[in-house]
Amino acid sequence: MHHHFRYWLPFLPEGVPAELTTPAEVARFELAQALPRIAPEVTVDIILDEAMDEAFRIQRADDAVIITGGQRGVLYGAYRLMMNLAAGEKLPRSHFQQPRYALRMVNNWDNADGDIERGYSGRSLMFEGGRFDYDPVCLCDLARLMASVGLNVLCINNVNVRNPAHRLIEDWLPELAEVAAIFRPFGVKLMVSIDYAQPMRHGIDTADPLDERVQTWWNEQCRVVYAAIPDLAGFLVKADSEHRPGPFTYGRNHAEGANMLARALQPHGGKLVWRCFVYNCQQDWRDQVTDRPMAAYQHYVYLDGQFDDNVILQVKNGPFDFQVREPVSPTLLAMPKTNLAIEWQLAQEYTGHQIDIYAMMGMWQEVMADLGSDRIMAMAAVSNLGRDACIFGHPFAAVNMFGYGLLSWHPEFADPEGIARLWAKLTYGLEQADEDALVQILLESRSAYEKYTAPLGVCWMVTPHTHYGPSPDGYEYQTWGTYHRASRDAVGIDRTASGTGYAEQYPSELRNRYSSLETCPDNLLLWFHRLRYDYVMRDGRTLIQRIYDDHFEGCEWVEAAEQKLAALPLPEADKALVMERISRQKKNAREWRDVINSFFYRFSGVEDAKGRKLYL
Ligand code: GCU
Repeated sequence: MHHHFRYWLPFLPEGVPAELTTPAEVARFELAQALPRIAPEVTVDIILDEAMDEAFRIQRADDAVIITGGQRGVLYGAYRLMMNLAAGEKLPRSHFQQPRYALRMVNNWDNADGDIERGYSGRSLMFEGGRFDYDPVCLCDLARLMASVGLNVLCINNVNVRNPAHRLIEDWLPELAEVAAIFRPFGVKLMVSIDYAQPMRHGIDTADPLDERVQTWWNEQCRVVYAAIPDLAGFLVKADSEHRPGPFTYGRNHAEGANMLARALQPHGGKLVWRCFVYNCQQDWRDQVTDRPMAAYQHYVYLDGQFDDNVILQVKNGPFDFQVREPVSPTLLAMPKTNLAIEWQLAQEYTGHQIDIYAMMGMWQEVMADLGSDRIMAMAAVSNLGRDACIFGHPFAAVNMFGYGLLSWHPEFADPEGIARLWAKLTYGLEQADEDALVQILLESRSAYEKYTAPLGVCWMVTPHTHYGPSPDGYEYQTWGTYHRASRDAVGIDRTASGTGYAEQYPSELRNRYSSLETCPDNLLLWFHRLRYDYVMRDGRTLIQRIYDDHFEGCEWVEAAEQKLAALPLPEADKALVMERISRQKKNAREWRDVINSFFYRFSGVEDAKGRKLYL
């Protein structure tokens, strides 16, 4: 990896040598190079206790530390200790940790041609020109970054399996095995996205999951795959979604479709991760009955209890698609007899493309609070990594990968300020006042982005396809189920029982909270309700005035942030990137502000109460 960016591990200047093959060896190597830099007085012993697996205990008596755990446990414990020491945290005498979620996954959306779907930090670290093409040193550094925050699965290719990536589990097995070997010493297992219709590339005229020829093909294929990579984590599947093939073509439901693959993986210990991003992307905008966020619940909840044990349904955090603010997906609350994973998107597809500063911890905290931590057994996140000099595109976007690791290790570590502060301390080691300024910018960044983009949970005012920049009607008359229905008098969609009924998919507490105008949070008002522009908000402002105010405030925040960042003593390479990006963010935020405010001004004819400029 590019040497001036060590991200949150600047105390590890040497790459891990390729000869090391076990996590415990890596742990010893890393401690040996870090300790002289961060805590020369400390000595560390590692004791393996295989039964502890991923868990670890750190015991400290003065400057002598003992880390006990399974192979992966001692590695996680070693990184935890190094980060504690580097951040100057005081260690308790005995400290035990184990992960809350068994699978802590990063999903790359890398295509074999080197392009990354929704990737904003350059080309793929894995592929180029239709084949594997990677720098092993760089992948090793990536594996280290993942392990340092407890991430243990990397799905290496896009869920939209484009040519010729289907060959990953066929002709490219030797290369895949080589990549798996790079990640293995860090406790990271690979996963592969597969094409549901893959048997049809081999002379079978169907992909019907109940057809014996299809089953036999997958059984045999899994035998071959696992002979090459015995610890492959499994397959990830996007089926019947946005034109991807799937069981619906054959009149089968998604339990039938998923179980067929799960049974092929089962003898080898593999998992089948099945995405629930299924909706009608051919909707007529005139249709006011179909409501896209209701789709996943309708397709999956009735199947609760019918999925095999090694199937995990992967559900996006919100029922739409990674918008700046969404309520928790009701599907995640309605399938107690099914293994569930939540899917986040670290790539900022709808939230600024890693140009705009957008720290996600606040979103995680909100969603996890509504979810309750025992609903799910795994976490996944679409990655924000690429081949750019800074692999996260924006140096501050690293906080999202860092924090996501801590969150998926255990939500008890997902306190937004704690994450921001620890990341800032480790990455930059600033004076207290500078660190405070940076942490504050990170913590406020999401709300700022939300303010200058689409108002109060209305979503989808973004430029079609690229999903960057304002286009209030860009998705309004299209087939994607993405409407705000702004008119001369009102905006938003009634999703309560008197409207589409979406809110009825929630358990009573959330249903009531969202259905009543008294209790629905402001930032989701237009998600759940259709309101007139003269609707009076709780704070006494009209809806239209609130929309104007938010847009001006969001922009002012960016202007002020630019000033504060200019004063921060960041390392040169980071500083250059940060300043270049905030100047684009500022220009783009102004564009958002003026386009969205003008859009509503043109419809409503209402002037800004504070006399600021709106455009006709
Ligand atoms: C979004 C995104 C697509 C992606 C899809 C998915 O719609 O725009 O690029 O393929 O999500 O999650 O499958």
